[in-house]
Amino acid sequence: MVKKQLLQIALDGGAGSGKTTIAKKLASYYGFYHFSTGNIFRSFALIVHNETDLSPKNVKKKIKKIPLKIIKDKIILNGKDVTDLLSEPKISKIASLISAQKYVRKKYRKLIKKISKQEKIILDGRDIGTVVLPHAKHKFFFIASPEIRAKRRLAQLKLSSSNLKKIVDAIKKRDADDTKRSISPLKPAKDAVIIDTSKLTITQVFNRVVKNINAHKNN
Ligand code: C5P
Repeated sequence: MVKKQLLQIALDGGAGSGKTTIAKKLASYYGFYHFSTGNIFRSFALIVHNETDLSPKNVKKKIKKIPLKIIKDKIILNGKDVTDLLSEPKISKIASLISAQKYVRKKYRKLIKKISKQEKIILDGRDIGTVVLPHAKHKFFFIASPEIRAKRRLAQLKLSSSNLKKIVDAIKKRDADDTKRSISPLKPAKDAVIIDTSKLTITQVFNRVVKNINAHKNN
C-alpha cells in the first residue's frame, strides 16, 4: 500500500548549504512550524563539551542525566534555554563527532518523533528526507562548494577572513564524517530535488523552492 504523503517539507544538506535560512523563510511564508534538527545534536554537544572522554559510553551517561525539551524552536536543557549557545565552532565539531553514535541517534529519533508526525512542518538536517520524514511531500537537498559555505559561516559568526581556511577544512571534515557514518548518513532521498546554492542568492533559492512546491502541491 502506498502511504499517504504528508504535507511536510524536508530540507537536507551540509553545513552552510543554506538549508536553515531557507527553512525559516519558508516557515514564515507558508505558516508552517520549523525546527532545525542540528540543534538537538548541538545541545548534546553542549552537555559534553568539557569532557575529555567522548566515547559512546561516556556520552550516553552524560546525556541521559540531563533533561532536554523542545519548545517551539528553542532547546531547553535542564530548564535553561540554551538555543543561543549552540553555534560555536567547537560545538559544531563535537556535534558532528557524536552524531554518529548509536545512543545519540536513538535519543534524537525519540525527541523528534512527536514533531515528525505533524503536518505542515519544515525540518532541516541531514537525514530528514531519508529517515525522519520519509513520506514528506516535498524534499530538497542543498549542495554548495565548501569555500562558499565557509564564507557564509564567516559572515554568520562575524569572523575575520584569516579564519577562512580553518573553516573550509572543518566543513570538509564534517561533510566527510556525516556522509561516511553507517547510521543515517548525509545523502539525498531518492525523491529529493537537488539544488546547488553556490551561485544563488537567498531570494533565488527561496523562489526556486517555492516554485517547485507550488508545481507539486496538488499532485
Ligand atoms: O545542521 P547543523 O550544522 O546544526 O548540524 C550539526 C551536526 O549535527 C552535523 O554536522 C551533523 O553531524 C549532525 N546532524 C545529524 N543529523 C541531523 C542534523 C544534524 O547528524 N538531522
